[in-house]
Amino acid sequence: MKFHPLIAFLLLVLLPLYVFVHVVADLNSDKQALLRFAAAVPHVRKLNWNAETPVCTSWVGITCNTNGTGVIAIRLPGIGLYGTIPAKTIGKLNDLRVLSLRSNDINGSLPSDIPSIPSLQFLFLQHNNLSSILFPTSLSPSLKVMDFSYNSISGTIPSLNLPRLKVLNFSYNNLSGSIPSSLNRFPSAFIGNPLLCGSPLRPCSTVSSPPSASPSIPQIVSQSRHTKSKNKLGTGSIVAIVVGSLAFVFLVLVVIFICCLKMKNSGSRGMLKSKISGVGKNEKPNDFGSGVQEAEKNKLFFFEGCSYNFDLEDLLKASAEVLGKGSNGTTYKAALEEGTQVVVKRLKEVAVGKKEFEQQMELVERVGRHPNVIPLRAYYYSKDEKLLVYNYMPAGSLFALLHGMQPIYLSPTMVGNRNSGRTPLDWELRMKIALGTARGIANIHTEGGGKCTHGNIKSSNVLLTDELEACVSDVGLAPLLNAPGTMSRTIGYRAPEVIETRKITQKSDVYSFGVLLLEMLTAKAPLQQSGHDDVVDLPRWVRSVVREEWTAEVFDVELLRYQTFQEEMVQMLQIGLACVAKTPDMRPTMDETVRMIEDIRQSESKNRTSSEAESNIQTP
Ligand SMILES: *[C@@H]1O[C@H](CO)[C@@H](O)[C@H](O)[C@H]1NC(C)=O
Ligand SMILES: *[C@@H]1O[C@H](CO)[C@@H](O)[C@H](O)[C@H]1NC(C)=O
Ligand SMILES: *[C@@H]1O[C@H](CO)[C@@H](O)[C@H](O)[C@H]1NC(C)=O
Ligand SMILES: *[C@@H]1O[C@H](CO)[C@@H](O)[C@H](O)[C@H]1NC(C)=O
Ligand SMILES: *[C@@H]1O[C@H](CO)[C@@H](O)[C@H](O)[C@H]1NC(C)=O
Repeated sequence: MKFHPLIAFLLLVLLPLYVFVHVVADLNSDKQALLRFAAAVPHVRKLNWNAETPVCTSWVGITCNTNGTGVIAIRLPGIGLYGTIPAKTIGKLNDLRVLSLRSNDINGSLPSDIPSIPSLQFLFLQHNNLSSILFPTSLSPSLKVMDFSYNSISGTIPSLNLPRLKVLNFSYNNLSGSIPSSLNRFPSAFIGNPLLCGSPLRPCSTVSSPPSASPSIPQIVSQSRHTKSKNKLGTGSIVAIVVGSLAFVFLVLVVIFICCLKMKNSGSRGMLKSKISGVGKNEKPNDFGSGVQEAEKNKLFFFEGCSYNFDLEDLLKASAEVLGKGSNGTTYKAALEEGTQVVVKRLKEVAVGKKEFEQQMELVERVGRHPNVIPLRAYYYSKDEKLLVYNYMPAGSLFALLHGMQPIYLSPTMVGNRNSGRTPLDWELRMKIALGTARGIANIHTEGGGKCTHGNIKSSNVLLTDELEACVSDVGLAPLLNAPGTMSRTIGYRAPEVIETRKITQKSDVYSFGVLLLEMLTAKAPLQQSGHDDVVDLPRWVRSVVREEWTAEVFDVELLRYQTFQEEMVQMLQIGLACVAKTPDMRPTMDETVRMIEDIRQSESKNRTSSEAESNIQTP
């Protein structure tokens, strides 16, 4: 069966045209609404919003959805907006999810068409001079955060029915009357309103309580809810007990399994030499070192500026333990007699000759002169053995920090059962590590002369210094080895085109970095087990959640307490998603990625200092 050429023509030309027209029309109405807003609300700092330039890519403070059909976020904190927001401006943005106009000087009433935008989830209006909020009868059911603190809002609070609302803040306004019972689940949302009463604040005196708040109705509601939940608890607890017991049995099995692995892998300390000769397939025990030429023997090649004074014999005599077994070899931690600790990587299946190996080592050394790349200290090359010597990083890997476990003990889908002893990784630290890692990779790409790639970016290859500065490890090894790693833990980071062509590019490094970023934001493994035998990769999972819900559900639960950084988190998520674009050309370069992360940091620290300055002025 062949397509009629006319049908083919229609499909090829008209369909994209139809989609294009739709996209342009949607976006155009958003653009007009934004221009009306900018014209009506004066601002001290200039906005670069211009009818001639593209909204999604060049307007400051604007974020569009991925297909570029609508504006989903406006973030204009602290840019000196003053005056009143008219209706039919921002309220016309049908796809808006985030509106942040905090720390400005907006006064008057907030028009009712804003809180009724159906997709609106986050509304940040704290630190303005609003005198009232016009709540519509139909509030957006998606609202999760509403912050109106530090305004001049007066009047009474209506009863708002918002079951999904997680954060509400009316602090430091001029509200009066009683707090509706639907809102008393927000204990610290009403402080700083001297005329306000009712739970969670002081009880209202009967005289001042409005007659409409008859006490009998709320009581009936809460009673019926109570009996209902009691019944549910009955069946619920049975299920919980069964699930709980099963989970316990599973946990015991997992612990036993991990203990066995631990004993096998690193329980025994011993000389590096014995470990190396015991593992090698082609070497008889004690053969190591005797097979090489007399002149080469005992020669570790040290790079300039390296202060280690030990030789190969010292290294082999050092007590060693296995740190990890990866697709490209085994890594040991070796403690030399005078107290120095180093990491020795023993490569397997090196596919290049001596000359090429040495050239690559020169490159690795040059790229390693960067604070975010692990410096290569020395190497050893013989026919049977290839060893690399690095500094030891006592703070461990990002993988361990994030998931609380060592990667060697873990199958990729087990991530998530975190150690209880693990310290949570706070947002500041995650940002610092993300930026450091990005800079490290960008340095490899530029310093290595345009074509240099890493080829194996993953969280267990990001190590941390004492100051918790991120350092990219395993640099420059991919070109030496036979095949890209085939272990499943690596596959989750691999760009789709690499899985097909096995060809690593700088853009496939960007993809791997994107997966790493998503891993840091969600604390989920790159490969997700979804029901049955289905394995879903992290980018696909994030995209599917984001499409429906956006933000909160995606993020690591440990991050939910950092409400003030919510916008930063969303921006980081967007960078992550841009990096994992399916087509390589759509991904940013590593340099661009670094700049995007730096921009987030800068605007955030600026906002913080400006709001600090503001509160200094306000406090007498
Ligand atoms: C664009 O994406 C949104 C979801 O982000 C979706 O609702 C909309 O239908 C998409 N539009 C087009 C034209 O693909
Ligand atoms: C809002 O502020 C502007 C000047 O900043 C002033 O002209 C206007 O009257 C104010 N509006 C209200 C409702 O207070
Ligand atoms: C807020 O607006 C009122 C008038 O509506 C004005 O008197 C007051 O100074 C303003 N406060 C700030 C902090 O701008
Ligand atoms: C606070 O509200 C009360 C009554 O609701 C009003 O009389 C008073 O003027 C308001 N104060 C300010 C500073 O707006
Ligand atoms: C509301 O804001 C005030 C002042 O910033 C803060 O003390 C309070 O904890 C906040 N409440 C909520 C529920 O976020």
